[in-house]
Amino acid sequence: MDISTNYLSFDLPNPFIAGAGPLADTPAHAKEVEDAGAAAIVMHSLFEEQVNADDVKPVAEKASSTTAVGVLDQYLEQLRKIKEAVDIPVFASINGHTAGPWLDVGLAFEQAGADALELNIYYVATDPQESATTLEQRSVEMVRGITKAIKLPVAAKLSPFYTSLAQFAGSLEKAGAAGIVLFNRFFESDIDLGLLKAVSRREFSNSGELLLRLRWLSVLSASLDSATLAVSGGVHSGKDAIKAIICGASAVQMVSALLKNGPGHLSKLQDELTQWMQHNRYESLDQMRGNVNISRTRADYMRLLQTWAWLYGGRG
Ligand SMILES: Cc1cc2nc3c(=O)[nH]c(=O)nc-3n(C[C@H](O)[C@H](O)[C@H](O)COP(=O)(O)O)c2cc1C
Repeated sequence: MDISTNYLSFDLPNPFIAGAGPLADTPAHAKEVEDAGAAAIVMHSLFEEQVNADDVKPVAEKASSTTAVGVLDQYLEQLRKIKEAVDIPVFASINGHTAGPWLDVGLAFEQAGADALELNIYYVATDPQESATTLEQRSVEMVRGITKAIKLPVAAKLSPFYTSLAQFAGSLEKAGAAGIVLFNRFFESDIDLGLLKAVSRREFSNSGELLLRLRWLSVLSASLDSATLAVSGGVHSGKDAIKAIICGASAVQMVSALLKNGPGHLSKLQDELTQWMQHNRYESLDQMRGNVNISRTRADYMRLLQTWAWLYGGRG
């Protein structure tokens, strides 16, 4: 049974990756996740705002500052320590939406030992003057700039909110992205009706969130040339992971499930995956990948809605 996979040009022994978040916040945590079976680990993101602030500070001020410059230096220090602690690939992560300071930061990551870079393009487009084309082009230029400047493979972590995601992902691939991560999970605000103010809820994902990812894994695995895909969001069980792979994922990232159940959950998922493969006579993930295409058409949608009509007619 071969559960090895190739993601971002890395030959990984299994598809399970500890996704961006607190799982690599200390070298000890990173080691724990490696020992539990993660094939790679993504660090939390360094935000564009943190680095921009750093960039504009005069050198003398930087030397004494404990804020912005500290954030970048701390990140690099953490990266070096994690690299010393583990043997699995360690991906650094940045969160931004403009070309910004990423070329220098990317080089610093490379020198500090990062194996790849995950670029989280997190942007809520609220400017009524800014067209979709403008902001997509900006993201493409960011990827082009950074992939030209550094040798590390770069994965773009996207939100699902693009008008023409297949076209956009193709442009990112042409600009040099070696991988696409589907998707960001937005932390949405709710309203506390007692206090009449916005509140942010920190909630773990659930398996229902996977369905949106499955559709886009199906679409993009059929349309991209060489970029490999990782799922992020809603993978909690072995079955979830199997579905993602069948729809085209080369790697399966998890955060919520590992925070909730501990890193030991990884071995449970590996067992579920191998048992399922055995039962269904698959010898490798390559055989499974892309086997089901669920990029549904309008006709499927229409049929689905029409088969629900009985619910109303059947009342009383
Ligand atoms: C506590 C926490 C911290 C996170 N930090 C980051 C981050 O720094 N960068 C990032 O790209 N995603 C971050 N994420 C998002 C996860 O990487 C992931 O995309 C999301 O949680 C969906 O995956 P899941 O369903 O496995 O949790 C974070 C998620 C959680 C729960």
